[in-house]
Amino acid sequence: MTDRCNLRCFYCMPEEGLNWLSRTELLSYEELLRISSMLVGMGVNKIRITGGEPFVRRDLMELLSSLSALNGLDELTITTNGVLTAPYVCELKRLGIRSVNLSLDTLDAARFFAITRRDEFAAVMHTLQELLKHGIDVKINTVVMQGKNTQDILPLVELTRELPVSVRFIEEMPFNGDGHQFSGIAWDYVRIMDEIRQRHPQLKKAADEPFSTSYNYNIPGHKGNVGVIAAYSRTFCGTCNRIRITPTGILKTCLYDDGVLNVRDQLRMGDSDEQIKQVLLQALNNRVVDGHEAERRAKSAASIHQSMAAIGG
Ligand code: GTP
Ligand code: 5AD
Ligand code: SF4
Repeated sequence: MTDRCNLRCFYCMPEEGLNWLSRTELLSYEELLRISSMLVGMGVNKIRITGGEPFVRRDLMELLSSLSALNGLDELTITTNGVLTAPYVCELKRLGIRSVNLSLDTLDAARFFAITRRDEFAAVMHTLQELLKHGIDVKINTVVMQGKNTQDILPLVELTRELPVSVRFIEEMPFNGDGHQFSGIAWDYVRIMDEIRQRHPQLKKAADEPFSTSYNYNIPGHKGNVGVIAAYSRTFCGTCNRIRITPTGILKTCLYDDGVLNVRDQLRMGDSDEQIKQVLLQALNNRVVDGHEAERRAKSAASIHQSMAAIGG
């Protein structure tokens, strides 16, 4: 939806923010709807809306409302930081949105401030309560960072005892907007799982949904479950079926590629839906199919200066 965000998570963007895109560079609401409708016509059955922070864009609810009415779309869902989300939860439910991914790296207000550089912990916790109250499935995304929040791993696991949430721990990736060091290797999924297993030896592997980014586990007696996303070691990229469209309309078949098509230019050239679908198909066929492209590209991760907010997560 946008590269803009009301938080400044240090693993995503620098304190001063990004060189924000102008409104004309962004896909308009009409363009987003048109491209979504074409892709759904071509077989896409799930759309995830991301940012930056989707709720900082004014026309979000209008777009969600139109998308929720698309024939052939089975699932519409959102990834949000939860700062502005609470007042919209009732409406999300009404639109048929069944699940939301909520970014939350700590259960401690001071550490929340240290990580996000904003004092919004209470607002995010309020959103979590509202989502649960309305029966919306919640996956909590927690980026694990050496020296920042590894002490939160077990308390976040504890949250799943009484709450029906999935807590997913994510390896930190190099998309922090300025190329600074990241801890994806120091805290890889093996180390994260070891930490959890030591406290919960009865942990049991759960069945993962097809194409899931996370490996999921149940803890007997807990209402929720836990998962780990090996986003940096990326052992799941062989089964990844995602395509992404950035706020400026770049179609990406992998988080790490530079884009295979500029969809916005296609839309603004005045082509018909049929012509654009042909170009889309061609671009998607250029996808590298061996499943290891991302791993190769990440080898040069030190040179990645892009922010996750500009990609969409
Ligand atoms: P669901 O499976 O529908 O819950 O979605 P998701 O896990 O893809 O969505 P979300 O936006 O919550 O992303 C969670 C984390 O997984 C983020 O850190 C993403 O960047 C990461 N992620 C998602 N897809 C990929 C991928 O293809 N490769 C890698 N390396 N990381 C990914
Ligand atoms: N590494 C791993 N995950 C990241 N996210 C943002 N930046 C990074 C990064 N550098 C996560 C956010 C959000 C999801 C869409 O991506 O925490 O939950
Ligand atoms: Fe905003 Fe999400 Fe980036 Fe944090 S990770 S600054 S919440 S876009």
